[in-house]
Order: sequence, then structure tokens, then C-alpha cells
Amino acid sequence: MTTIDTAGGGCPYSARAAAFNPFEDGYQQDPGAYVAWAREEEPVFFAPEIGYWVVTRYEDVKAVFRDNHTFSPAIALEKITPNGPEADAVLASYDYAMNRTLVNEDEPDHMARRRVLMEPFTPEELAHHEPMVRRLTREAVDRFIDSGRVDLVDAMLYEVPLTVALHFLGVPEEDMDTLRRYSVAHTVNTWGRPAPEEQVRVAHAVGSFWEHSGRVLQKLRKDPSGHGWMPYSIRQQEVHPDVVTDSYLHSMMMAGTVAAHETTAHASANALRALLSNRGVWDALVADPTLIPNAVEECLRMSGSVAAWRRILTADATVGGVDLPKGTRLLLVQASANRDDRHFDEPDELDVRRENASDHLTFGYGAHQCMGKNLARMELQVFLEEFTKRLPHMELVPEQKFTYVPNTSFRGPEHVWVQWDPQRNPERADPGILSEELPIRIGEPSRQTISRPARVASVEKVADAVVRVRLAEAGGVPLPRWTPGSHIDLECGDTGLSRQYSLCSSPDDTGVLEFAVLREPESRGGSAWVHEHLREGDLVRIRGPRNHFRFDPTHQRAVFVAGGIGVTPMIAMARQARDAGIEYDFHYLGRSRSHLAYLDALAEVHGDNLHVHLSDEGSRAVLADVVGPYAEGVGIYACGPQRMLDELTDLTADWPGEPLRVEHFESTLGALDPRKEHAFVVELAESGISVPVRADQTVLAALRGANVDVQSDCEEGICGSCEVPVVRGEVDHRDLVLTKAERDEGTRMMACCSRACGDSLVLGL
Ligand code: FES
Repeated sequence: MTTIDTAGGGCPYSARAAAFNPFEDGYQQDPGAYVAWAREEEPVFFAPEIGYWVVTRYEDVKAVFRDNHTFSPAIALEKITPNGPEADAVLASYDYAMNRTLVNEDEPDHMARRRVLMEPFTPEELAHHEPMVRRLTREAVDRFIDSGRVDLVDAMLYEVPLTVALHFLGVPEEDMDTLRRYSVAHTVNTWGRPAPEEQVRVAHAVGSFWEHSGRVLQKLRKDPSGHGWMPYSIRQQEVHPDVVTDSYLHSMMMAGTVAAHETTAHASANALRALLSNRGVWDALVADPTLIPNAVEECLRMSGSVAAWRRILTADATVGGVDLPKGTRLLLVQASANRDDRHFDEPDELDVRRENASDHLTFGYGAHQCMGKNLARMELQVFLEEFTKRLPHMELVPEQKFTYVPNTSFRGPEHVWVQWDPQRNPERADPGILSEELPIRIGEPSRQTISRPARVASVEKVADAVVRVRLAEAGGVPLPRWTPGSHIDLECGDTGLSRQYSLCSSPDDTGVLEFAVLREPESRGGSAWVHEHLREGDLVRIRGPRNHFRFDPTHQRAVFVAGGIGVTPMIAMARQARDAGIEYDFHYLGRSRSHLAYLDALAEVHGDNLHVHLSDEGSRAVLADVVGPYAEGVGIYACGPQRMLDELTDLTADWPGEPLRVEHFESTLGALDPRKEHAFVVELAESGISVPVRADQTVLAALRGANVDVQSDCEEGICGSCEVPVVRGEVDHRDLVLTKAERDEGTRMMACCSRACGDSLVLGL
């Protein structure tokens, strides 16, 4: 741990820290790359150029955002470059008095206001804006689609978000160019380093913006009955005059106008620049627009519009191992955190199939997370859908230089020039494409939407009614990595079905994914489709892999119990046990030899460790003998018919710990029956929000309804991705993920299915 005295800024710092200058072009072009050295060598460093400590790693930035008491947001809107007296006098002449807004206020004021003002940001309310976003986007593209060349920022990416923002705020559409000039001035004034003579010009623009905001507010006050967040806030002032004050409304009117559009304008320009600079990724999106929601997250991660944000210490604290005194100012470089390879694999790759893309910190985290994030997500999805559909052939104009407004925090190119051949516009050949619309995902995308293509390399019969399918990469999209116990979801052509199959090749063989499929006599369509339709050379789509059935390498001994086709996940797991030198037995149960896939190969690999139990040869397994008496350090892994799993569950029910692990592909939870449920309240300890959960609602749905992001995947209690920490309260666990011991600990739950036993739960969110 390093202890450094920052009193008076007279602390030691390295040459690279001394050279850190966020107003330089290097930072603007790619702030994550600009401080890559710091993530490795000096993750929290003092930057004398600005007098701030700079935080660069993911976990450190997130930890600071999480604790908004120790790390106050009070300086978030403070001028990072103090004005000279002349500029101050100019601002005073406009009675400029920007004060607290949701962005820079401490508790308890912040949460009190946030609660009172949040309703227009809920997914239900935001959904009302989708038709308007689509219409504005369509009209903007209509204006230039036949031109063949355009600056996307000037032609659309500024104006549409600004118009959407004004609609959302309920503010009349005014002179867009003037508002744009005001917004840039506000950014430079707050986060930039204007030269003294520029300060005066900026101060006039900011002062005019302040006056303008006051006038609009006055106008709205005369009739606050209309739609939009500002009329809503004025109405809430009547109910909660102590919470929503006059000064607050004026400050929020100005800051909200900027926040509601500038970040989205920049984010969309960044996203299109990033995607068009990676042609393969753009083409993948054109080929499969269902990837768009995740692509939005990946673009926000890779090239977000909020590069850095600020906090000040209200008490001595340790950040990333560095002890810092009360009063220390922090610059949290989210753009760096988003490129931290401790959290994101291959962080410099733009990967629209990245499963944890939405972990990015571009929207911040915790109690102050951006309230407008889901409106921004909606706009970005609509933009990308429109462009991939109508201008899939557009490309960046070569050798253009991308310029940015120098400042620490808001980042987006001032211009993005693109070109295309209008003769090749798809709608000229097929006007019908204009009526195709993808559903917009309001909120964080589900991992279930992330699919990739694969080519069928072979389909071979390997046992009675069992075929082995081998997949290879297709379309230049590499096959995903996986671990023993994983399965993939296979989309069954255009049947609308998808089925889950355990992988059974070697994870080290990155060129192939193999699984085996038993034709079920009562097939619901999936296994029949594979047997009847899947042929070598076919292209298929897969999702995953996901692993709910991991092998625990700390076992002293492992027992694998496979019933029939349940052998598939065991193949890679048993090989892992063997390679790790763990003692193990592999029991393979079936009707007859001809029904057991991979039998010869398994006998060759596992020799005497393999025990084959065949009913037609009179060697039917006695499961009590298979598992034996309880012994410490033994893990039992089972996959196969339900009655076999039930018997194993009974046999091990009294054993301490959770020695039996079984593979679940489908949940037995069933749908929520509101008649059997009760409503309760979820308190969020870190953000101070109370979220009511109705009897007909999951905790996950209620949290999302309150604008709280929680990852999810299966949404039926089997994958573990919606796990949330529990601080207090008894949980009615309904998932198939947590072990008995983990449930007894009571420190986590699956938000998609588990509920409160009583009236409330406190979650660590
Ligand atoms: Fe899979 Fe909840 S989303 S367990």
C-alpha cells in the first residue's frame, strides 16, 4: 500500500503522470489507450497538470462510484479550469448561478429528488418515445440518402438527439444551432481549458444559455400540464416544494438540456466511427441486426461518450491501494476502466458478441448512474438499425481527421464523413425493407440475443438414434471458447426453436464445436430437426456457450454418472479430471451398447476408470453402489434421465455440503402464478432506492422497471447471470444455481426467480 501526502499537490509523481494532459489530442482521440500505461504501472496517479488523482482500473473506478458518501459527486460540475476575473464578471452579469443538479449533489438530497423525479425514465414511460425516435431518424436519413456523401454529425447525429431531448424534457423546439453552440460552451466552460480570451466568449455563451433556460422555465411554469420531464418536475414541485426547489429547477433545466442530448450525439458518432472502422464487425451487424442491442453496449464500452467523471473525498480513503486524504479530487477515467483487461478479455477488440459488454462504466455506476441511459440506448439502437438497413454499403471517407472539443469528459468527433453509392441503396431494389422493424430493447441487452454463425462440418451417426454434429467457424467469425460442462443454444433453422446441447469435443481444439443429439421419440421438434434437416455444409446460428455445470478441480475424487445421451457434458469434464490427476470413476448407464455414443473412445481414454452398466447385459447400475457412502472431498456429477437424477438426489440428500451437481437445461420453475405470490419491497443499499415488487412481477422485472441494470440470460433460474447480493432479509430461493450451503449463507439470490419470504429484502445494489 502506498501512502502519499497530497497536501498542496506537493506529492511525488512519475514522469508519465507529470505528462498527463487530458486537453491534448492524444487523450481526446482515445483516452483508454492514452492511459494504458497507467493501468499497468500506476493505476492511481497524481496528475499535476490538473491537480487531480487519476483512477484508471475498472474495479477502482467502480468502487469509487459505488460509495458516493466517501467519494462525493459535489465537484462533478465544477469548472476544472478556474475562470479569470473578466470571465467571472461576464457570468455574474447574467446572474449565472448553476447550483446543485442530480449529477453533483450529495445524500440525502440526491436520492430524495431522484425518487421524486424518476418516473419519466422508467421503461414503460420511455417506450412512448420510440415512435418519435424512429420518425425523426427516418426523416433525417431520408434527407441525405440519395446524396452519396454526408457528415453524419451535422446531418443527423446532433440534431436528432437534441430534438429527442427537447421532446423528452417537454421543452419547445428552439433554434437548434444556438442550443448546440450553448452546449459546446457549457462543456468547454466546465470540463475544458479555454485560454483567457476564449473564457470571455465562452462565459457569454454560458450566461446566455442560463438566461435562455430561465426563460423556458418561466414559460413552462405558466402551463405545466404538458408532457415531458420538466413539466413533470414543475408539477412535482407543487407536491414536494422542499425537494424540488426553484434553484434546482433552473440548474436542471440547463444541465438537463445538455446531458439529455450531447452524450447521445457523441455516443452515436463514436459508435459509427468505431463500427465503420472495423468493416468485418459492421458487416456482421448488417448480416444479423439482432446483434444491435449488444453492439450498442460494446460501442459504449469501446468508445463511449463520457470519458471521465469526477469525485472528491469527504474522508481519508484508500483507492487502488493508495491512501488519499480528505479533500482529494479524483478524475475517474471510465474510458480506461472500460479497456481494463482485468475485466474485459481482449479489451481493445470491438466485439459485438462480447457477453459482458454492458458491464461498461460509461453510464457511471451506483446511485448516480445516468438516469437517461435507456433513452440513449433506444436512440442508438434505432440509429444502427436504420443505417445497417438503409446504408449497409456506406464507408468512412478515407483519411479524414477526427477532431474533438478538448475537455476531460465529453468525447465525440465533431464530424464523421461517410460516402456510398446511392445506386446501391437497398431500398431502391426493395422498398419493402423500410417497413421492417426490429423490436427495441429498453434497458440492458440479454445475452440470449447474442448469436453467431457456424458451419456444419459433419453430421454422423454414432449410436442408435444418436448423431454427432461438428461445427466449424463461418463468415470469419471465430468459434467461441468454452470450458468443460458448457452447452450451446442451437437455433433450429426457421422453425423458431432453439435447443441446448452440451459440448463434448476438447476445449483446446478451437476449430471445432462438437455435440451429440439423441432423437427423442416425443421430440418437440429440436432433435427431429437436427436428425432430419442438418447436413454437412449448412450454416446455423448458435448462442453461448454457457456453463451451469462446472467441474470443481478442488475435489479429491470425482464420480461421473452419465445416463444415455447425458454422457455429453461428462466427456470433457472427465478428461479434465484425468488431466488434473484427480481420482475419478466414470459410470455410463444405458439400455444396450448400441445406444451408447462414444463408448469405444471413452474406453480408450479412461480404461479401468470407465464402468459401463447395460440393462440388456444384466449389469444394470445400482446407484447406491455407484455413489457409495459419503466421503469428504467427493464430488458427484450427473446428467441423464430425470428418474436417475431424482434417485441420486435422494441418495445424497443427507450428505453434508452439496456433493451432487446435476445439469439442468430447462427450468422446472414454471411461470409466476400471482395468486400464489405476495408483493414485497426491495431496498437497494447502495443506491438508496426502494423498489416495490408486485405479486405478478419478478425482482428482475421490478428492478429494470426502476431503471436499475441487472444482467440476465436464461431468466428461469438456471444460468446464474442475474445474481444480486443480499444484505438483509430472508430469501425464498427458487433457482437451480445456488447450492444448499450458498442458500443458507443468505448473501445472494437470483433476481429472475427468487423472492422475499417476508415483506422486504435489502440488496447490495
Ligand atoms: Fe439465469 Fe436468472 S437469468 S438464473
